[in-house]
Amino acid sequence: MASSARETSRAFSAALNRLSYLDERSWESQKGCALKILFIGDIVGSPGRKIVHERLHDILEQRSIDLCIANGENAASGFGITPRLAEELFASGIEVITGGNHIWDRKEIFEYFPHEPRLLRPANFPDGSPGKGLLVAWAKNGTGYAVLNLQGRTFMTPIDDPFRAASQQLAAIPPEVKIILVDMHAEATSEKQAMGWYLDGKVTAVLGTHTHVPTADNHVLPNGTAYVTDVGMTGPHDSVIGMEKQGILQRFLDSMPARFSVAEGDVQMNTVLIDVDEATGHARSIDRLNFRLD
Ligand code: FE2
Repeated sequence: MASSARETSRAFSAALNRLSYLDERSWESQKGCALKILFIGDIVGSPGRKIVHERLHDILEQRSIDLCIANGENAASGFGITPRLAEELFASGIEVITGGNHIWDRKEIFEYFPHEPRLLRPANFPDGSPGKGLLVAWAKNGTGYAVLNLQGRTFMTPIDDPFRAASQQLAAIPPEVKIILVDMHAEATSEKQAMGWYLDGKVTAVLGTHTHVPTADNHVLPNGTAYVTDVGMTGPHDSVIGMEKQGILQRFLDSMPARFSVAEGDVQMNTVLIDVDEATGHARSIDRLNFRLD
């Protein structure tokens, strides 16, 4: 390797190490051609965890997936995630877990964040919040990648501006890292679409989460960014967005407090598979893949 190339390699590795978790593999082995990324929609409660546990390893192997990311903010009975559940999801083959508005529901997760950079919370939470919203790491084939977690503000808690936060976070990613996945956790379709257009050509994918309803608008934007308004839900679809119907219905009917519990029927895993040109970081395709427990 020429000395200038070595210097570039060292600078790249140093920059990545400052940002995030990395293993000790050398830059020499970081070469590949294409990357297949599976993004799993919001994992809800024990049914969502069960289908991930039972199906994911085979899916990753059979489809030669290089990188698997999931939104896990509803993994603990529909509200939040605990350190134990995060560990279980990592052991299932998920390499990065993203969050959203429920990320703080379980207090024990506060202390876990500094020890586990693969668990993200939205980057536009106010300064001082535990954890980070950006991870830069290596995929299994050795390619550098970044995952950025954002949260919308329309019909949600008015936290910091996700658009300016996105620009600030992208500026911190080393230019050698071409593959950048964005989880845009938001309620409003308009805000998610706007983020897709805002980041078109700057990131590999803008993937919507939070509504738990898969949308049929997966496509690649003109400048190479894969987009979908909502990946959907990994959990019980015989439900109201994952919860038992009766409690939700009662709440709408009488506006009285009601206990919500995770439903059980029709467990599905809603995902999108993104084929990425590793040289440019642009998406070649984004396809919806849905799996059932049986
Ligand atoms: Fe959410």
